[in-house]
Amino acid sequence: MANTNLANAKNAKNDEFYTQYPDIQKEINAYLEYDADVFRGKTVLLPCDDPEWSNFTKFFAQNFELLGLKKLISTSYAVESKKIQEWKPTIFETESPYYDADKSRTNGKIFILDEDINNDGRFNINDLHWTYLEGDGDFRSDEVKALRDEADIIITNPPFSLFREFVAWLMEANKQFIIIGNMNAVSYKEVFPLLKDNVMWMGVSSGAREYIKPEGGFMKMGNTCWYTNIDHGRRHQPLRLMTMAENFKHSKHKEIRGKKEYIHYENYDAIEVPFVDAIPSDYNGAMGLPKSFLEKYCPEQFEIIGIAEGDSGKELGLKPFPRELKKVNPSLRDGQLYYLLDGYPIKPFARILIRKKQS
Ligand SMILES: C[S@@+](CC[C@H](N)C(=O)[O-])C[C@H]1O[C@@H](n2cnc3c(N)ncnc32)[C@H](O)[C@@H]1O
Repeated sequence: MANTNLANAKNAKNDEFYTQYPDIQKEINAYLEYDADVFRGKTVLLPCDDPEWSNFTKFFAQNFELLGLKKLISTSYAVESKKIQEWKPTIFETESPYYDADKSRTNGKIFILDEDINNDGRFNINDLHWTYLEGDGDFRSDEVKALRDEADIIITNPPFSLFREFVAWLMEANKQFIIIGNMNAVSYKEVFPLLKDNVMWMGVSSGAREYIKPEGGFMKMGNTCWYTNIDHGRRHQPLRLMTMAENFKHSKHKEIRGKKEYIHYENYDAIEVPFVDAIPSDYNGAMGLPKSFLEKYCPEQFEIIGIAEGDSGKELGLKPFPRELKKVNPSLRDGQLYYLLDGYPIKPFARILIRKKQS
């Protein structure tokens, strides 16, 4: 029990980091470039967002008119449920006529923007009105579920420790969404099939990002990405690739340049392609790529066969590795790919198996 509490507290702490305004702006702009009316007439819900400091709330409230939104709803999770020790309500809250010292710790809050409250002829951040939720603002509560069902589009950086549940919660409601997650989530059994079947895909902006720490300052997280089911231009841009022969001649990677063939796995009929830009354009068979391929994936150009990890790998038909190799390389696992280099068995990092789209 004590361990569970400790784990929960650790998760809660790890869930507490905030997205920067320019990162949100960059990603949202990409959807607008593809379809200027993507948000027009829509109700947007930002769950998991303390509106007093969430840049998601700020961005969507400030751009309410520009985006043509119908309604913006932003909800937050109660301090007590966050299991965070040092926490003081903001002046915004304490000076509000709605302030309630008890509810301040135990209840979530809801901010709504759907009318020109101050009658200044504009819909903007000054028209946000708020109240406490009945409960703590857990996205799994009936209260927040009802808001989800009311919304057209759900956007947030959710708690990473509940990412599986959050994705299931989105799928259950069949809504459009744009969310931030950890790149590792790609291999979750609740997530990968959605990527494989083009039910969900990566957003536009990738790469390391810095998030705001609750105590101030920034933390770098190299492995976060956006997940969405809203279309954008990047995913319809095929990668410009060299042929296999051109790769051997011109690749910038020493693993490829000067070679005569791509490495073939021992336990699955596919070649190892350790870099996205080294995919040979003229190869029709299966290829193993790092997870970062998904950030470049264009469904008109490639199809995803599966992920070579654990049970998914076994289901794909990866042959078990010969047991005697375990002595030479103890990291070998059934369900994962391996190849031989100068007779030594090598297990590459998690690979996604793809092939050229068969027309
Ligand atoms: C990664 S932070 C991001 C916060 C904000 N969306 C942003 O991007 O700045 C995730 C937030 O979700 C909140 N949270 C944790 N568990 C939650 C739950 N079950 N329901 C709703 N929010 C939750 C955390 O308190 C935290 O503030």
